[in-house]
This record gives sequence, structure tokens and C-alpha cells, in this order.
Amino acid sequence: MSLREQIEAVPGMGALLPALEDLPPTYLVGGAVRDLLRGMRPFDLDVAVEGDALDAAETVAQRLDGEVEVHDRFGTATIVAPGLAVDFARTRRETYAAPGALPEVEPAPLEEDLRRRDFTVNAMAAGLSHDRLGELIDPLGGRADLEARVIRVLHDRSFIDDPTRLLRAVRYEVRLDASMDERTEELALEAIDGGALGTVSGKRMRVELMFLLEEEEMPSAVARICGLGIDKHMYPCLRCDPDRAAGTALGAAEVGAERSLAVLATLMVGDADALHPWLDRLAFPRPERERVARAALTGPHLAHTLRADMSDSEVHSLLHGEPVEALAVALGWGAPGEPVLRYVRDLRGATLEITGADLIAAGVAESPAVGEALEETLRRKLDGEVHGRDEELRVALAVARRTGALD
Ligand code: CTP
Repeated sequence: MSLREQIEAVPGMGALLPALEDLPPTYLVGGAVRDLLRGMRPFDLDVAVEGDALDAAETVAQRLDGEVEVHDRFGTATIVAPGLAVDFARTRRETYAAPGALPEVEPAPLEEDLRRRDFTVNAMAAGLSHDRLGELIDPLGGRADLEARVIRVLHDRSFIDDPTRLLRAVRYEVRLDASMDERTEELALEAIDGGALGTVSGKRMRVELMFLLEEEEMPSAVARICGLGIDKHMYPCLRCDPDRAAGTALGAAEVGAERSLAVLATLMVGDADALHPWLDRLAFPRPERERVARAALTGPHLAHTLRADMSDSEVHSLLHGEPVEALAVALGWGAPGEPVLRYVRDLRGATLEITGADLIAAGVAESPAVGEALEETLRRKLDGEVHGRDEELRVALAVARRTGALD
């Protein structure tokens, strides 16, 4: 299939291409072109406009009965229309006021827009406007590098300007089964040793790190970031253990955990003093931060404690309240699979038919004894000793009586 045919076959293009009529020149850019050349369906569609991108986005949205959401200080916009989501941006040049800072941008022709990018394989464009539809614009040798599986920066300051590219380089290496060329690797090592990773915001690092940990070939990526020394500069207490990372990713799939969070937790040394400051720097939203911290601190312990011959109530009381990421970490650390899966499948949602209100209505004083009676009843229910609401109430009241909470 020609590139033009491939573009026409992308879902949504049948509507988008005619809607670009009479607009300034438009191009598909970045990862979408790379993926089409690999014969893959692109995931995100980025369109560069040599002209007013917001104006073009408004026109296209109107023509397609869609909506435009204008984003950031770079003047980019997302069009969402039936069956289509696509990002529009003005072709631009970038200058970096300080290493690691977000760039200043100004309009520039397409070729300069390609030159500001991270790697040659991501610096190709394909015409979308009628007269250039399917034309590959590849002034930097991206196609040859894609075929030769080479990750190559476009200029010597690339990693200094934007240190997140260090993680991106590793991500594309493993995803494309590629390697950095000699000069790019030299520049990467210089940037790492020069402390470039310290200049970028924790949030931007986190976003790239999470993308890396979602890659299918993540264990190789973990090995590579350690080989390059990125780990020590990012977080001195990161454990380089690709096998454990792989086991945790498998575990995450089994228990329904978020893979990147679970793998991150498994690689962090479970020392609260070291772990919390790094999670703060990465600026996780609070719920995710709690899940990672908890999983890092308890997952290895769960792995040591869990045994295949534990009863249902023992498994429940050990795992209850733990985030699923902690279970994935435990699996990565060698926990027996059966009790973990038994918990996720059968025990996690276990509840009693009675509640504390039933015990209080039956005369139990409002006190911690109510919770203790319910807990013990649930334990016995899980072990098959208690069946049905009446029996639950009888057992719970007997427990309350024993502890003195009921006359
Ligand atoms: N880009 C860059 N430097 C970065 C991030 C992105 O030059 N730090 C450029 C690259 O040209 C990249 C494009 O912006 O192709 C879009 O970035 P992104 O959406 O992150 O990546 P994709 O290339 O779309 O690839 P994927 O999401 O599949 O990894």
C-alpha cells in the first residue's frame, strides 16, 4: 500500500481529508507517520498546519459537526468529531530559555518544525492537503533510520534542552527494536552524567516514565535505563531488576492493577524515608501516590507472608484493604499465585448480610466491639462456618456477649 492509501485507510480520514480543503497546508506529523511507515495503525493523529492552526481547527470542526478544545501556550487544539479525534498545531520553531524548561515557540515553516523534534524517526511529515496527499517529507533521514532501527537525535543539545528525551530514547529503542547511534548514546551519557535529569520538572519525568513502564518490552527498558545510569540520577534507590519488573507486570494483568504504577512500586526500595520524597518530586495525583507508596512498602512483605495453604479468612485478613498494585508487587516478588487469585476472584468483595446497625438494634453498645464482632463473623463466614443472615446475627451477638458488649 502506498503512504497515500495508508493515510486514507486510517479511521476518520475519510471525513477529515475533505474537510481540509482550502485551508493552509496541513501535514500528518510525528509518531503517526513513523507508525504508518512501520505498517501500523497510528494511535494519535497530530496534524501540523503551516498557518493559523486554531482557525483551521475551528473550520474543520464546523465542517465535521465537531468541537474544538484549545489547549496550551503552544496554541494547539484538539478537534473531536464523530469517529475522529485529532490534534492541530501550528508549525513552529522552539528555543529553550533554560535547560529542561518548556520551550519558547514561534511560527516557522514545516521543515523547522521537524528540526525541533526529538529523533529522526519522529521527525517526518506526510502531506494531507489535496495536492500533496501522501507525500513523505523526510529531510532528516527518518525513514532510513527507521529501517536501520536507529534512534538519532537531531542536534547535540537535544537531551540537555529536554531531558525527558533520555527516557523517550529508551522507549523507542525497545519499542522499535532499535539502538541509539554512537553519537546519540555519547550525548545521552554526557547529559545523564552532567545532571540533566535534575533540570526537568518531576511531573514531566513521571509522564515519560509511566509511558516507558507501559511498553510491552518494559523489562528491556528497565535494564537499559540502569545500563545508562539513568536510574541512579533519577532516584538513587531504584532497584534494577528487570525480572521482578516482568513478574509484576504479569501479576498486574492478573489482578487488574495499573501496570506502570505496580512496576514502579516493585522497583522502589521499600524505605519510606527515601520513597516519599521521590514520589513527591514526581508529583503524582494523591490517590496514585498512595497506591504506589503502599504497594512498594507492603508488596514484598506480602510475598514473604502469603502461603498457598492459608485459609480463606487468613488470605482475606492479610490482603483486605491493600491496593491491587500491592498484590501485583507481591506476585512479582514471588508470592504464590493461588491465594492472591483466590482473593481477587472470590474473597475481595466478601461482606456480611448484617451490619453494625443490626447489632446495635439488638442491644450491643456502640463501641469498637461492634466492628470486632462483625470481623470475627466475616472470618467464620469465609471459612464456611456461618451461613445466612440469621446465623450471622447469632454468631455476631455471641461474640459481642463474650467481649462484654452485650448483657
Ligand atoms: N516530541 C519531541 N520531544 C518530546 C516529545 C515529543 O520532539 N519531548 C515530538 C516528536 O516528534 C513526537 C511528537 O512530538 O513524535 C509527538 O509526541 P508524543 O505524542 O509524545 O509521541 P508520538 O511520537 O506520538 O509517539 P508515541 O505516543 O507513539 O510514543
